[in-house]
Amino acid sequence: MPPRLFAFVLCVVSCAGRAAPTGMITYDTRPHGTVAAPLILRTYLPDPGLGDVVMSHHGKGSKTSEYSPEIGADVAGEVIPLAGVPAAIAVNHGPELSYVFDTTEGRLLYAWRGGFLDMYPYWGVKEMGTRLYDYVPKLVGTLFYKAAGKHPIEIDGRSVSEDGAPRFVGYDLVDSQPTFTVRHGSHLVHTTVRPVTGQNAFRVEFKVEPAGAVAYRAESSGLDVKTVSKGNGTLVLTIAGPSLGAFEGYSRKVTIKEASAAAGEQFYRNYGCAVCHSTDGSMGHGPSWLNLAGHERTLLDGSKVMADDAYLLESMKNPNAKILQGFAPNFMPPYSQLGDLEYQSLILYIKSLRPGR
Ligand code: HEC
Repeated sequence: MPPRLFAFVLCVVSCAGRAAPTGMITYDTRPHGTVAAPLILRTYLPDPGLGDVVMSHHGKGSKTSEYSPEIGADVAGEVIPLAGVPAAIAVNHGPELSYVFDTTEGRLLYAWRGGFLDMYPYWGVKEMGTRLYDYVPKLVGTLFYKAAGKHPIEIDGRSVSEDGAPRFVGYDLVDSQPTFTVRHGSHLVHTTVRPVTGQNAFRVEFKVEPAGAVAYRAESSGLDVKTVSKGNGTLVLTIAGPSLGAFEGYSRKVTIKEASAAAGEQFYRNYGCAVCHSTDGSMGHGPSWLNLAGHERTLLDGSKVMADDAYLLESMKNPNAKILQGFAPNFMPPYSQLGDLEYQSLILYIKSLRPGR
């Protein structure tokens, strides 16, 4: 799809009543999905190491043919496909949950939280003129679930992977929430995913037609799979996982020569801090930055710590090192790859936030 049309579609889905998006779709820019109205995006998606069994119907690594204007026909084996997953669908519920449902394998591929996708090279930047060829977006946030092995659904004791290639039927939106439908042999499997607030987890509902006994094979020993309910043809689970990695999208070239509060304000917006931290004292997903610097903070274990420069820096690089009372660990993505001038600017900006300013 040409980028412009894509932008339009995206906007129809999610920016009604909002200003048009500028810049890239990532943590830092609108539009964003919410728990109530997720953003649904079809694009190439990154492969965080899913493995051949999971991707068995993708024909990964094989070259595809390319149209040759000289010959007037497709020439086989000319193009190495992009290092991304084609024909998958990414869904974002804001910071709470993002996941990828693959239409080729007919299953969830991975889930993460605290961010979405960095589309930087896809949308291009004005200075670049065009987008890059290798425009697969990068993840932003903490990955906690990754598909492993053959398809995890069994119907009447038999894995749907025995039915050969799945066929994606489509997805329905009910109350803005997508339900994906895939045909496996003689069964239809419907999958609906919802966030579990404040945790590295999601709730997934499987419904099969015609009805049968549905079971889910835990895909890895690191997952905590709990059954919420079970009926003839239905299975509802929560799946929680450990942090499998923190992702920050593409690194951007920073052109500032010295640190300043003004540059910090810019980074506050560009790097998505604004999604969780207010600067006016109002509560968000994270604590407000108003009156933060130089004040005592109470941590989860009741101990106190002074919000000096070292604390602020550590809070950015390794948010789990000290968790503020009233907030959850593993929520803020670690920002460990910013440059010194960026950290310094963010600290100067936080320090500039005092009442009456
Ligand atoms: C997904 C939401 C989220 C994003 C995005 C986020 N934070 Fe946080 N941040 C939190 C939460 C939640 C806490 C409190 C829990 C903790 O201590 O980790 C926090 C804590 C902090 C603290 C300590 C605050 C205090 O009151 O003691 C600092 C400093 C901070 N973040 C800086 C940043 C910066 C800088 C960025 C952007 C580069 C950022 N955060 C992006 C959620 C977020």
